Amino acid sequence: MAIEVVDLTEADIPGAIQVIQQAFADDPYYRWVFDTSTFNKQRNYASLSARCHWGIRNALFQVAKETSIPGSSVLGVSCWLAPQPASQPESWYSWTQSWILSFSQLYNNIRYLGHGGLRTNRYWTWKQNQQDAQAQIWDDPRGYYFCNIVAVSPEAQGKGIGGLLVKKVLKMADEEGIKCYLESSKNVPNVQIYERMGFKMSKEMECRDGDDVCMLYCMVRNPRTQ
Ligand SMILES: CC(C)(COP(=O)(O)OP(=O)(O)OC[C@H]1O[C@@H](n2cnc3c(N)ncnc32)[C@H](O)[C@@H]1OP(=O)(O)O)[C@@H](O)C(=O)NCCC(=O)NCCS
Repeated sequence: MAIEVVDLTEADIPGAIQVIQQAFADDPYYRWVFDTSTFNKQRNYASLSARCHWGIRNALFQVAKETSIPGSSVLGVSCWLAPQPASQPESWYSWTQSWILSFSQLYNNIRYLGHGGLRTNRYWTWKQNQQDAQAQIWDDPRGYYFCNIVAVSPEAQGKGIGGLLVKKVLKMADEEGIKCYLESSKNVPNVQIYERMGFKMSKEMECRDGDDVCMLYCMVRNPRTQ
């Protein structure tokens, strides 16, 4: 199977969303932040679609496909945010794009009459914990490549596709001497997978809503020089 990793295009968005929804169906964070009894897949699709459109313009959003099959479907997806140096204020472009994304999500709330099962209190708990964790861990003023999504379709997992997607950005980070950061809500097997790629555990982040706890494993990778 020959796999290529290319930038996400408009045409890839439905396939990319399908991979994300399938790969995260049993993810501990998703099961904590969404109420499965009221989860609305279409609402979630609309939200991910807005995120993909934003990502095409503002992130390193890539997909893995099989090269030997013309028009082959998406097998894996990754989304990384580029490093933002501490000394550099956010650009007007990026600020405007974030607002456009927020308005799209607001429109989705109106269109689907709610958040589609998203427990917003838990979402904001996670956001706050993430902000605190990054304030504690991120010490490099040049910023970090921040992994938002890595997902491989369940039937294609374990065949090297996730590795290809991640290593594409790691290579860039090594060339630029930039650190990378990610959060995984699955300890086994993800922590081990990322350790093999050079990430080290920095913090075990607890997101709590009463007795319902979700652990997130914050990992950092230093650039390799050779
Ligand atoms: C995590 C995920 C992206 C990995 O993608 P993948 O295509 O299955 O992984 P790969 O086959 O490329 O394997 C990458 C490395 O991890 C190792 N690995 C893969 N599965 C493993 C397992 N179950 N246990 C230990 N190591 C494993 C591989 O041997 C490989 O190491 P190597 O490059 O040194 O040979 C994928 O399993 C996935 O989508 N999981 C569900 C969603 C998710 O948890 N995403 C991550 C959010 S942070």
